[in-house]
Amino acid sequence: MPVSRRDFVKTSVLGAVAAGVGTRAQGEDAKPAAQEHDSQSGSHKRPIIVCANNGFNYLDDAFAFLRSGGDTLDAALRVVKGPEDDPNDDSVGLGGLPNEEGVVELDACCMHGPTRRAGSVGGVRNIKNVSLVSKAVMEHTGHVMLVGEGAERFAVAMGFPRENLLTEHSRKIWLLWKEFHSTDDWWGPGLADPHWQAPDSKPNNDKPQAEVWQERIQNLQARAADLGIEPELQLAAVRKVLFPPTGTIHCSALNEKGEISGCTTTSGLAFKLPGRCGDSPIIGAGCYTDQDVGSAGATGSGEENIKVAGAHTIVENMRHGMSPQEAGMDALKRIVRNYNGDMNKLRFIDMTYYILRKDGAYSGVSLWEGYSEGHPHKIAIHDGSRRAEVTVNLLKGYSQEFPPFPNIPEDLKKGSEYLK
Ligand code: GLY
Repeated sequence: MPVSRRDFVKTSVLGAVAAGVGTRAQGEDAKPAAQEHDSQSGSHKRPIIVCANNGFNYLDDAFAFLRSGGDTLDAALRVVKGPEDDPNDDSVGLGGLPNEEGVVELDACCMHGPTRRAGSVGGVRNIKNVSLVSKAVMEHTGHVMLVGEGAERFAVAMGFPRENLLTEHSRKIWLLWKEFHSTDDWWGPGLADPHWQAPDSKPNNDKPQAEVWQERIQNLQARAADLGIEPELQLAAVRKVLFPPTGTIHCSALNEKGEISGCTTTSGLAFKLPGRCGDSPIIGAGCYTDQDVGSAGATGSGEENIKVAGAHTIVENMRHGMSPQEAGMDALKRIVRNYNGDMNKLRFIDMTYYILRKDGAYSGVSLWEGYSEGHPHKIAIHDGSRRAEVTVNLLKGYSQEFPPFPNIPEDLKKGSEYLK
């Protein structure tokens, strides 16, 4: 596999995209999301469902349900249940990538706009449809959030079956991660620590970085083959080991009457510490819906999104007059601000927001263009026609460079320019 340095100047951090001005990802025909549908355009439709792109295949059924009078939260839950049930989606529900001990732990939350209620579960083991469990918390308890063993026991009491959520494929990726990270794990200071160093900028490494990474990737691929990971899935597994993903699905649904709801579900950050909850079960971070304004949800770096209360920030921004796109860009800029625009850290962070206003205006915005060239972030939409649109990105380039580069040259550190 080639590990030569990509055209860094072209594809990475040359400058911010000012709020409201998206760039087209290279090799993509799709238009940046929201350019024609943002509030300024006046082109809004109801009913409408928006979600992360891994919900695309489930939109037809959910949209038909919504159009025939189905409840907005039930419509959104129909979308996210698809990936939860799919053993091949390793970011959600059954088959989700496990924690560092090899145990799948799921998080989810939901908000029902018409009745202004919320439910949430965190760190749930052995139950795949945690989005539905979050709804059960909302409907059948006087609480909003249940976590861990208590949440699992509640789910069983409500009739949800216990099952092993670790598929063979996810188990093998976890084993690959264990072997690669035998001297490295999630303990210790994180990205936000002032003394944090990118792994490849540690001292005492005389070899050229390209060589180091080539070796690492070749070793990992060989181990993946030994573990029985199919050849066509080996590089994807290597990537997940090097850059543990936070794949998630959010969905918001709005009916003709203007009722709106949202939900988010995830297996969280791969190989996390047991008990870690990300943003997805946090009302106001991974999802927030206000019947008076709209709904928003997130996929991406959960820790960063919690710190800016992303979904709530976006809904409040819309309440105060921002368009969906402006509201999302403002939340992304708060993440950039939390790192003082330091691109050596921000390149390891990514965030996508899915935003739906009560009048049907929507936007998909992301911190970076995508994970790699040709794989832009997308938002999926159904408003009578089902489609996926490229999100509008705040920063040019891709998160989690593969392989990561030792250091971003001083003259490319333009972080402060992003800040207003
Ligand atoms: N955004 C999902 C997570 O960080 O857990």
